[in-house]
Parts: sequence; structure tokens; C-alpha cells
Amino acid sequence: MPLVTSTEMFKKAYEGGYAIGAFNVNNMEIIQGITEACKELNAPVILQVSKGARAYANRTYLIKLVEAAEIETGLPICLHLDHGDSFETCKSCIDDGFTSVMIDASSKPFEENIAITRQVVEYAHAHGVVVEAELGTLAGIEDEVKVSAEDSSYTRPEDVQEFVERTGCDSLAIAIGTSHGAYKFKPGTKPQLRFDILEEVQRRLPGFPIVLHGSSSVPQEYVKMINENGGNMPDAIGVPEDQLRKAASMAVCKINIDSDLRLAMTGTIRKYFNDHPADFDPRQYLKPARANIKELVKHKLVDVLGCDGKAE
Ligand code: G3H
Ligand code: 13P
Ligand code: ZN
Repeated sequence: MPLVTSTEMFKKAYEGGYAIGAFNVNNMEIIQGITEACKELNAPVILQVSKGARAYANRTYLIKLVEAAEIETGLPICLHLDHGDSFETCKSCIDDGFTSVMIDASSKPFEENIAITRQVVEYAHAHGVVVEAELGTLAGIEDEVKVSAEDSSYTRPEDVQEFVERTGCDSLAIAIGTSHGAYKFKPGTKPQLRFDILEEVQRRLPGFPIVLHGSSSVPQEYVKMINENGGNMPDAIGVPEDQLRKAASMAVCKINIDSDLRLAMTGTIRKYFNDHPADFDPRQYLKPARANIKELVKHKLVDVLGCDGKAE
């Protein structure tokens, strides 16, 4: 099966009350860990590449690695550009064979966001590619752009219908309290997503797929593993998994996870070096990192997303 768009995945996910995992990929071991988990549990998956990941690996390698994963697993895999920052970046990915792109003009004024999203949609749809757009801004760090908690803002439900109608986008990322990175909520506070906003968006856009960014849960076992092996992370708090599960049972069809994979990989490698200080073969430390990414993704597929067993 060639790489697919997310259209069918989202339709079934919406109807079935589950979500598709959208995992960020930066190298071979991450791609293998994710897709081996999906293969074992027969789950469809979105592999997403940020502008930073594309700059790190160059524009060819990650595409070829994702194609290799598709050949190895035979799963429905969607290759998605995460946080495209301009028409040019989106066009370049579409021309390279991505099946889905995000244009993130959420920091721009409403009319400007509509204009640039519309431009990307026209080009993408003419090439059989689907488009995710964003309304509302998340706090946290994406590439080099840092949005402070004060500058972030929840999505206004009264804007979503007009935005979707005028842009023609295929899915919409909304801000309901998640944020990028490992430090999502103030220590001592109780994390709570704004389900009232999600419900209102869902009411105004019946059947339309909604996306949640910044959805890592920050597993404490890996924060601990990092800190017990030479790291020094302050208190890190993620999105509670039961709240993500609830969102997945509603209109949320795509849940973005990156930081959790980074924590699993880094914690495992730190521990490996602590336990084996004389080793220097990259395969020896990348192998357990890949295995732990696989276990983490299996847990997400079953307990958070509910998309296990949902591949064709
Ligand atoms: O939302 C951002 C993702 O975690 C990607 O991060 O831009 O550092 O690759 P990155
Ligand atoms: P996390 O930082 O919570 O993993 O979010 C990832 C993301 O939203 C990628 O677009
Ligand atoms: Zn994001």
C-alpha cells in the first residue's frame, strides 16, 4: 500500500470514538520503534516531520525511512508535515511526496491565517494532499518559536465554522489547554483540559476531525530515569492520559506526541551509559532506546488512542 492521506483514518476514528496517533520522527530508530508497535497491534499511524526534523535529517532521508516502514509493515501510514510555517515549506513537502501537511498560521491575525491556509489548501488538494490548520495558540516550544503561557490563547468556538468553510482545510488543531514540551502545567496545579471548548467546537462542526497538539503525558518513569542517570530535569507535568482518552472518544481524531518519545529515548540511553560506561557501539544503546519507544507507543495505542486493531 502506498503512503495514504488521513481522510479514511479520520472518518473511521470519528465514527469509532478513537484517535490516530501522530508521532514525530527524527531518525531510523524512532520510526522503527513506532511502526513496529503499530504492526504488532495492527494500528494505522501518522508519522510527522517538523521543519526542524527535515533540516536535521535533510529532505530525503525521513521520507525514504517512512517509505521503508510502509514496505516492512504494510500498514496505512500517513506522512505529515508538522507545523508548516509557510506556503513554500508546505509546497516543498507536497512536491516531495508527503500525503498531509499542516499550515500553522495560528499566530497570525484571523484573516491572514485564513488567506495563507486557503493558499496551501488549493495547492495541496490539487495534488491529492490533505491539510491541517490551527486556530488558537498553544504555549511551549516548536522549532525555535517559544510561545509563553501569557501569549497562548484558547480557540474561540465562534470562529471555527467560518474558518473551516473559508479555508477548505481537512482537519483543525485547536487549543484547549495542552502545550508543547515537557513542562505543560505548573507543579502543584491540577491539569485540566477545556472540554467545554471541545464540546462547543464539535457542536459547531459536526463530523469534522479535530487535532490535539502538545499531547505528551510526560511519563514520570522516564523523567526519573533521566534524573537518576546524570540528568537534571525540573518537575515536568504532562496531559493526564484519561483526559486524552476522553478527547479521543469525542471529535479529536489526531493526537500529537513527540516529547514522550524524546524522554523514553533519552532516559534509556542515559541509563545504558551509566550501566555500561565502557561501551561505544551506537547499536548497543540505540537498541534498548528503540525497544522502549516501541513499548511506549503500544501503551499509547491501547490505553490512550484506542486505535489498536483499526488498520485495514
Ligand atoms: O510541536 C513540535 C514538535 O514537538 C516538533 O519539535 O520542532 O523541535 O522538531 P521540533
Ligand atoms: P508534545 O511536545 O506534547 O509531545 O507535542 C508534540 C506536538 O504537538 C507536535 O506537533
Ligand atoms: Zn504541535
